[in-house]
Amino acid sequence: TAQEVAGLRGLAARLAREAGERLVAGRPEEVSVADTKSTATDVVTAADRASERWLRDELRRLRPGDAVLGEEYGDVPEEAAAPSASVPEEAAAPGDPVPAGAPGAGDGPRLTWVLDPIDGTVNYLYGLPAWGVSVACVVGDPQVPGAWTPVAGAVSAPVWGELFHAGTGQGAVVEGPRGGPRELAVSEPSDPAQALVATGFGYAAERRAVQGRVAAELLPRVRDLRRMGSAAIDLCCVAAGRADAYYESGTKVWDHAAGLLVVTEAGGRVTGLDGSPPGAPMVVAGGPAMTRWLHDELVRLGA
Ligand code: IPD
Repeated sequence: TAQEVAGLRGLAARLAREAGERLVAGRPEEVSVADTKSTATDVVTAADRASERWLRDELRRLRPGDAVLGEEYGDVPEEAAAPSASVPEEAAAPGDPVPAGAPGAGDGPRLTWVLDPIDGTVNYLYGLPAWGVSVACVVGDPQVPGAWTPVAGAVSAPVWGELFHAGTGQGAVVEGPRGGPRELAVSEPSDPAQALVATGFGYAAERRAVQGRVAAELLPRVRDLRRMGSAAIDLCCVAAGRADAYYESGTKVWDHAAGLLVVTEAGGRVTGLDGSPPGAPMVVAGGPAMTRWLHDELVRLGA
């Protein structure tokens, strides 16, 4: 129901905002790389892990019946299973019954919370501002492109002091230093040559080689390209009209689940290539006409 969606959206927004505030407050003088993942450039910091553990603790306490999929601990949260010291005493233990009256509790479809505890980890590492926390609540299987639908989503950009959030059928807003909530609406440039297009690059060298070639072909045909360093923030910028479109291949569901809903609720389109669902393997987003143009260019370029 609309009330349930609003409740889930409120929780997503609170979690993204508070996780972001904790990351800013707890940031050490020197941030260091704790580990690498898929490649040597795919880094993880202690803050990524602590942020995801905090999000999981909150969800375990408030929504024990829901599933969780996170960037750092996946869907089998063994490492994250032990509640951290930050869990308040009244926290529900894993396996406690779903609190009566909790939105989504009971007979509804199973919900999964899809978490990116820091999207834009490299920016966070270097002290650049474009990083955020992405929290999405989805129905279906988020590990299979096209098999899930977002219900609510929130992306915080704590250094910018902004919080973007959306609920299915309920629009998308930004709250921030200039007040809010302010309704978001995508832009639609009349000519792609005047479009500011955001993109991103994956961590694998072979993928980057293709992405670099595609970017080089596209650059002379648009106003400019931006590589902000956080897919979630790229999508929110499209929703806010701060970029006219965004595309990237190889993003993971936690990078785009919340931002995708923010874009569509802001009147935009998000697609994959040639009828494939977004994320398999491409995400293309923007106003309807710009998305169509960019999609066709990407197909032509063999992206
Ligand atoms: C990355 C960022 C980046 C995008 C990469 C993502 P992470 O996420 O969103 O902008 O280009 O594809 O993996 O690793 O910082 O969570």
